[in-house]
Amino acid sequence: MDVSEVTALLSPEGRALLESLPPYRGDDALALAGRLRREGHAPELVAVVLTQARLRQRARAKFGNLAETLFFTQAGYEQSSRWSVAQTHAAQFARAGARHVVDIGCGIGADSLAFCDADLQVTAIESDPATALIARANLPAATVLCEDGVTAMVPDTDAVWLDPARRTSTGRRIKDPQSWSPTYGQALDIAASYRYSGIKVAPGIPHSILPAQAHVVWTSEGGELLEAVVWQGTGTPGRYAVVDGVTFNSGATSADEPVIPSEPSALGPLLLEPNAALIRAGAIARLCSTYDVAPVSDGIAYLTGEKPLPGCDSFAIREVLRNDAKDIKRALDAHGIGALEIKKRGTDTDVELLRKRIGKHTGRPGVLILTPVLGRHRAILAERVLGEGS
Ligand SMILES: C[S@@+](CC[C@H](N)C(=O)[O-])C[C@H]1O[C@@H](n2cnc3c(N)ncnc32)[C@H](O)[C@@H]1O
Repeated sequence: MDVSEVTALLSPEGRALLESLPPYRGDDALALAGRLRREGHAPELVAVVLTQARLRQRARAKFGNLAETLFFTQAGYEQSSRWSVAQTHAAQFARAGARHVVDIGCGIGADSLAFCDADLQVTAIESDPATALIARANLPAATVLCEDGVTAMVPDTDAVWLDPARRTSTGRRIKDPQSWSPTYGQALDIAASYRYSGIKVAPGIPHSILPAQAHVVWTSEGGELLEAVVWQGTGTPGRYAVVDGVTFNSGATSADEPVIPSEPSALGPLLLEPNAALIRAGAIARLCSTYDVAPVSDGIAYLTGEKPLPGCDSFAIREVLRNDAKDIKRALDAHGIGALEIKKRGTDTDVELLRKRIGKHTGRPGVLILTPVLGRHRAILAERVLGEGS
C-alpha cells in the first residue's frame, strides 16, 4: 500500500465504507466490489477497503477480535508481533519500571499498542511513510514520528524497543543480522544508551553474538517458535525459554556462554522431543541434569528417559528398527499402527520417498522417528503420549 492508498483508507469515507462491510468472505469479494462501485464508490477506494477487510480477517490469527479495530499493510501485518507476545514485551518493561519507551521501527504498531495498553508513554518511529500513517491510526495514545529511528533523538526516555525488519521487499528472510534494518550492530549501539532495552531477533541468532549481560528469551506458543528477544537492564543475565507461558532457565549465567553438550545414553521407554525454544536457548543440558534424561545420540536434540517432561513432546517407544522400509512395514502391522507422522533429526532420509515405500497401513496413529541412536541410524516406532509434558 502506498501513501495515497493509506490516505484514502483512513479518510472518513474509507473508514465508513470499511465499517459498513459484511464479514469478509473471499468468495463474495468480486460481487461485493461490483456492488460498491455501482453504489458510486471509487474503484480505487473499493479495492483498498476490500484488501483491508481481507487483512483484518487474516489478522484474527495474531490479534483475535482486536484485529477489527486495527489497520494493516500486508508487510506490516506479516512482520507484526502477535498480540499475546507483544503484551509480554510490555509486561517486561513495566515490571522493570520503565516509563517512556521509544519503539524504533514500529511497523503497524503492535508492540507500541501493547506498551500504551500497559500505561507506558510511547514514542513510535517508523521510516516508511505509508506504514507510519497506519501506525498513527492504530496508536492514538502514542507519539508517532516518520523518520529514520537510527538517528532520531527523543528526549526524556528510559527504554527502547527495536524490532528490526528482517525481510527483503519481496518477503524473503534476511539471515545476516548485519543486513537487518536497523542492523543488529546499530540496534546494540542504540540499546546501550538506554537504561532498559529489548531487541527482537531471529530465533536462530548465534549465542556468541549476544551481549554477555543480556537476559535473552526465546518464546514459543502452540508449538510455534515465534521470536527471541535480547533484553538489557530488565532481567537476570542468561538464556531462557518461554513455552506456552512457562519459563525455563537454560542455566547459562551469561547469554553468550557456549552450550554444554550432554552425554547420550541408551534408550529408555520414552523418546522426548524438546520444544524448539528450549533447543535454541541451549537448555538441553539443564533438562538432562534436572530430570535424569539424556540425548539419544551425540549432538541430537531427541532425549530419552522414563517420564514425560515439561516443555517436551513425549513418545512411548514401541520398537527400534533399522531405517529400512521392509522392517518398518512389518513393525507397523505387528503393532497395529496405521497413519504415520514421520519426524527426523541427524539423517538425510528422504521422508516422502520412505512414506511411499512404506505404503498405507491400517491401525492406530503412530510416529516414526528417524534419528541416530548412540551413533547408529535408526527408525523408532512410537506412539504419542498425550496430556503430559508440553
Ligand atoms: C519488524 S517491523 C516492526 C513490527 C512491529 N514491532 C510490530 O509488532 O508491529 C520493522 C519495521 O521497522 C521499519 N524500519 C526499518 N528500518 C528503520 C529505521 N532505520 N528507522 C525507522 N524504522 C525502520 C520498517 O519499515 C518496518 O516497518
